Amino acid sequence: MRTVPLGTTDLNVSAIALGCMSLRPDKLAESKATVRTAYELGITFFDTADIYGVGDSEEILGAALREAGIPRDKVVIASKCSIVLPGMDPNYTYKAYDLSAEYIKASCEASLKRLGMDYLDLYQPHRIDYLTHPEETARALEDLKTEGKIRYVGISNYTPDEIRALSAYTRLESLQTQFSLLHLEPLETGLTAICHEKKMAVVPWSPLHRGVLTGGRALPHDDWQQQREAGVIAQLKPFANAYGVTLGQLSLAWLMQQPGPVIPLVGTANPRHLTEAAGAVGVALDRDDWYELMVIARGRSMPWGQRPYVYTKER
Ligand SMILES: NC(=O)c1ccc[n+]([C@@H]2O[C@H](COP(=O)([O-])OP(=O)(O)OC[C@H]3O[C@@H](n4cnc5c(N)ncnc54)[C@H](OP(=O)(O)O)[C@@H]3O)[C@@H](O)[C@H]2O)c1
Repeated sequence: MRTVPLGTTDLNVSAIALGCMSLRPDKLAESKATVRTAYELGITFFDTADIYGVGDSEEILGAALREAGIPRDKVVIASKCSIVLPGMDPNYTYKAYDLSAEYIKASCEASLKRLGMDYLDLYQPHRIDYLTHPEETARALEDLKTEGKIRYVGISNYTPDEIRALSAYTRLESLQTQFSLLHLEPLETGLTAICHEKKMAVVPWSPLHRGVLTGGRALPHDDWQQQREAGVIAQLKPFANAYGVTLGQLSLAWLMQQPGPVIPLVGTANPRHLTEAAGAVGVALDRDDWYELMVIARGRSMPWGQRPYVYTKER
């Protein structure tokens, strides 16, 4: 497994990570097997959050690592706080975001307890809280670092300006954002650019668009949206065939080819699917193919010209 640096930290993580939102008590055996398989494949980067299964994901991840005898210092564990779902905290009856110092510190303690760990490698505000000044959020995160409860700070779902604001008070090592061939916003809104400016890793969530980019699943959208996605998939197929990879591997390789590094968070509780995803590491796309895929994903040509897209290679 290829490894890449996580921002400016001393951590080298696998080029692809396991998103642990899929680890669920009703799929306990598969979930734990997926964590074990990840480690066997050389995947060392695991992302979870307090809200995934309202704590279930963190508990399953911690238990799976312990039961597989995987040493704590051989893996990089990321978790998140901020989103408060009904039932998570007696103070809230409505979904809210909370990045106050008091809430962050309590959330971190609770995550560590569920994981059965002493520290997190990466702690990420999940979504911005408009009611807390970034200076307060940063101070709480810095305190957690000083106390040895977290090693580094990342961010999730922030805009470029929000990243700048929080970066003024604490060092951010990564950005988690929705990013795939069916969701290009990070390239189009300056998110990847600010990550380059700040030397932050880009960590795409839903890199397979919740399975749609594997070709086997449609999301419950309006018809036009499903048709658009089906159209993109149809145009990706000849590329996958030409490279001898699956659609999912092609989609992950397209992400990983970008500088940053870009580290896709594959969400699965199926060891076979994870093994397939890991096969995308090392798939190198030609530069012109990468751009052709970008044009297909955008649904319009790049600014170099307005002529309709045509295949330039035999596929
Ligand atoms: N920061 C945020 O706001 C945020 C939001 C969402 C997610 N996340 C993170 O990102 C991770 C990934 O998100 P995601 O789960 O939406 O990502 P995803 O990897 O795009 O989609 C996962 C879905 O794809 C299916 N899948 C994977 N490989 C497949 C294959 N080869 N064939 C058919 N289906 C396949 C999985 O089903 P199987 O289980 O059957 O494989 C699962 O339903 C999460 O686990 C979480 O860590 C973060």
